[in-house]
Amino acid sequence: MSEFVNRKWVVASRPEVEVELSNFELQEEPVADLEPGQLLLKSRYVGVNPPMRMALVSGGIAGRPIPIGRTMYGGGLAEVAASEHPKFAVGDLVQGELGWQEYAISDGARRHAVNKVEAPAGLSETTLMHVMGGSGATAYFGMIEYCKPRPGDTLVVSTAAGTVGALVCQLGRLQGCRVVGIAGSEDKCNYVTSELGAEACINYKSEDVAERLRETCPDGINIYFDNVGGETLDAVLGQIAFGARVVLCGGTSQYNNDLDWYGPKNYFNLVYQQAEMYGYFIGNFSHRYHESRARIGALLREGRMTYREDVLEGIESLPTQLIRILRGENFGIPMVRIS
Ligand SMILES: NC(=O)c1ccc[n+]([C@@H]2O[C@H](COP(=O)([O-])OP(=O)(O)OC[C@H]3O[C@@H](n4cnc5c(N)ncnc54)[C@H](OP(=O)(O)O)[C@@H]3O)[C@@H](O)[C@H]2O)c1
Repeated sequence: MSEFVNRKWVVASRPEVEVELSNFELQEEPVADLEPGQLLLKSRYVGVNPPMRMALVSGGIAGRPIPIGRTMYGGGLAEVAASEHPKFAVGDLVQGELGWQEYAISDGARRHAVNKVEAPAGLSETTLMHVMGGSGATAYFGMIEYCKPRPGDTLVVSTAAGTVGALVCQLGRLQGCRVVGIAGSEDKCNYVTSELGAEACINYKSEDVAERLRETCPDGINIYFDNVGGETLDAVLGQIAFGARVVLCGGTSQYNNDLDWYGPKNYFNLVYQQAEMYGYFIGNFSHRYHESRARIGALLREGRMTYREDVLEGIESLPTQLIRILRGENFGIPMVRIS
């Protein structure tokens, strides 16, 4: 056995409604010796995201839930702690699927597939996990390929202070859209209007969304970037403008309810308004991530785009961070610093 001891979170039970700490168990195990072609990854940061709730119950896009007793999945940044792999050296920074654990043995390709990465010039290495990674790409390609923003368009964004939503607000503003955000607290709404450039922000927990949409979008909604589904999507569909584009990116409001999704009643307005609604999957754009990285990297370096992180410390915090995001208690891009 190697000198290393791994701590990992395994799935202990399935949530009945909300995710609870008891759905996970922290286990300790010695790390096996490496075989030729393997490398040992030491996690630095692991991210959490809302669809992890679905991975525990319905399985979401994977179609089957993560098995009980299996290490919880989670992508992040790691350094190579030991290597028997010709293409990786000790100290290399890598990114990929690590799981909720301190150490992972990878073969570089299939088991814990990772890529060697470098911190983007002038930016923190953690940006690789969000604005310079998959979330940045999700916002960017959702906007250019589906939202097709035009100056003067009214763009409504749900989870406007969230990882993807905050980027969509800023990309929309830069395209000359009137941006109206929807978020879950007054602090988040202030952030959306004062730092992300939205003209208005609706607090869906304390305000009537349909009524506030009528006030803030008097000429109708040209673009809706949907991160939540459910009643908010329904309220927006009731107020879309002629030729609107509705992009279904996420359904966070339904992830605790993912075996019985809420169906929108106002969907026929898509017909009246000759609008388009798209189901969007970022996996189809993975070969184009260099485009989003180039654009978003330039905007960040020029100070024309911003982001905010919400980092908890230590592997013990992973289930807590997942629970916090599913309750909207995080304020910023959620992640956990492991080492
Ligand atoms: N289609 C794709 O390829 C693709 C790719 C990436 C992400 N996604 C999806 O896009 C969405 C956004 O992803 P993200 O990583 O940026 O996550 P995120 O929006 O940062 O998720 C966390 C936020 O979700 C909100 N939330 C939590 N519970 C909620 C509820 N019951 N109803 C409404 N909002 C709730 C909270 O904000 P508030 O306090 O404002 O409620 C919370 O801070 C997610 O649904 C994700 O699954 C899709």
